[in-house]
Amino acid sequence: MRNVLVTGAGSGIGRATAEAFVAAGDAVVAAMRDPGRSGEVPGAETIALDVTDDASVTAALQGRPAFDVVVNNAGISRSGPVETIDLDDARAQFETNYWGAVRVVRAVLAPMRARRSGLIVNVSTVGGRTPSRGYHAFYQGSKHALRAMSEALVWELAPFGVRVALVEPGFVATSIFDRGGYHDAPPPSPYAADEAWVRRFFLEGAAAQAIAPQQVAEQILAVAAEVRPRLHHPVGADAEAGVAAARSLEFEAWYDTAVARVESFAGPRPQPAPADPADADPA
Ligand SMILES: NC(=O)c1ccc[n+]([C@@H]2O[C@H](COP(=O)([O-])OP(=O)(O)OC[C@H]3O[C@@H](n4cnc5c(N)ncnc54)[C@H](OP(=O)(O)O)[C@@H]3O)[C@@H](O)[C@H]2O)c1
Repeated sequence: MRNVLVTGAGSGIGRATAEAFVAAGDAVVAAMRDPGRSGEVPGAETIALDVTDDASVTAALQGRPAFDVVVNNAGISRSGPVETIDLDDARAQFETNYWGAVRVVRAVLAPMRARRSGLIVNVSTVGGRTPSRGYHAFYQGSKHALRAMSEALVWELAPFGVRVALVEPGFVATSIFDRGGYHDAPPPSPYAADEAWVRRFFLEGAAAQAIAPQQVAEQILAVAAEVRPRLHHPVGADAEAGVAAARSLEFEAWYDTAVARVESFAGPRPQPAPADPADADPA
């Protein structure tokens, strides 16, 4: 029986992963921001843990025995133009997706290191391997940063026998885009029509191609069963294709392919209104 921690276990991939480890007979700590709202995971120890809050992470994890598997899954996605996105929204993605994982890793590593074993699984996205699409600078940036942190951890933890894996799904059928406001029209900005077009791609792409969260959970359990797992684990056909394209194409060729892919789901790319010279010279 393994001792397993899953963050963001109240819904989606996190809940499916916690349930899968419970079904495998493991001792699971299902951590979520608000267990009263999300509901407990049957068979698991359900605890409150907000990955953006130092005190919450300490209160939830301090003094616990070594985990065999830690799944950093908690995450959010918000779209928005670099020029106009609310900076709180931009920062929140790094605070949750990157710093949240950093906080949890720092809280759990000492006993794992001391025991010379264990596995950290960081739930990234294929977008953590590919160049960034428009309006996803901060989501993808946070996941690229998660990849950089994971690579450094491989190096730092190898001598202590602790392994690190990145699970990198493509579209997964969860409520992440509902929660991120993708069904809403973007706030007024010179980019609004283009951003709406990209949001539509995410919704239509997910409707057409999303895999079930249980499939990601199965992949995480498969990784946890390996003695020496590799770092990278794309999940889903679209993730495999995205990684292959990112590997083989220079950015400019990738960009053309990515725009064509958005058009295949969301129709022709909208063009901005003709330039108004008055806007270029506000004085
Ligand atoms: N769905 C996809 O297409 C997709 C694709 C690639 C990667 N991913 C990644 O998969 C992971 C899980 O997302 P999902 O698709 O399963 O979406 P989801 O159902 O929205 O799950 C995200 C979970 O993270 C939790 N969370 C958010 N902020 C938190 C915080 N500060 N502290 C603790 N928990 C927090 C949420 O809890 P609350 O209920 O409290 O908000 C929610 O349970 C994310 O890291 C996401 O980036 C998703």
